[in-house]
Amino acid sequence: MSRALATDSHSILGAARQASPAALDPARLPAHVAVIMDGNGRWARRRGLPRVMGHRAGVEALKRTLRLCSDWGIGALTAYAFSTENWNRPGEEVSFLMALFERVLQRELQALERERVRIRFLGDLTPLPEGLQRLIAEATGRTAANDGIHFNVCTNYGGRAELVGAARRLAERAARGELDPAAIDEASFAAELHTAGECDPDLLIRTSGEQRISNFLLWQLAYAELHITEVLWPDFDEAALLAALLDYQNRQRRFGGIDPAH
Ligand code: FPP
Repeated sequence: MSRALATDSHSILGAARQASPAALDPARLPAHVAVIMDGNGRWARRRGLPRVMGHRAGVEALKRTLRLCSDWGIGALTAYAFSTENWNRPGEEVSFLMALFERVLQRELQALERERVRIRFLGDLTPLPEGLQRLIAEATGRTAANDGIHFNVCTNYGGRAELVGAARRLAERAARGELDPAAIDEASFAAELHTAGECDPDLLIRTSGEQRISNFLLWQLAYAELHITEVLWPDFDEAALLAALLDYQNRQRRFGGIDPAH
């Protein structure tokens, strides 16, 4: 969170600012949290509601999570909003999601600006409805210089497509003679990804109990700690986020090395 905000009485999207829970060690928070927001459809079905109502409730859960991450001092939140495979859903649901993204952006842009959130949309945005593309460009531009939490919304995102795109761009530069293939290293490859400039996620949270990566941030999650919870995304709340962060703080991160205590 931007320190400049610490004196405000209100925080992101109108809710009261939350102090970081005493159980959390502020020195060992993840710098970057990624979330696979799964279970919207099941949440709605359990209530006898149409699936799309689950997505609507999912937006509230995302706002709650963004606010808490910002308040507790997490530097970046990256959420999987729409995958390249999600186009295979019924047309009505896809249209609802696109309209929902537009509405949310329109409604929340001022609050994001006010709270100094830097929002970016990661993925191939060209197949999205034009109105949504315009709003995304506006939101990205208006918040680009903000010094608060980085909020990345993965939209028409696929990890394999992202890797193929990076490889293709590097190959094109090599074919034009602008790049020596021997000079390609992890840093130059990462610079071609949608997440260029962002540190890799330290923690991946997946809701609703599924134990899959689902083509999400395949490169970037190489050393992320995984937290899988049975909580359905629309029910993801402060207690669920705290549980994920405490789980993370109990892990020994070795990055392929050995634990010096053993
Ligand atoms: C999957 O649940 C969840 C999604 C497809 C994400 C929908 C997107 C949002 C809630 C956030 C949009 C936010 C912004 C800022 C534009 P599911 O339908 O797969 O659930 P199921 O597995 O129970 O069917």
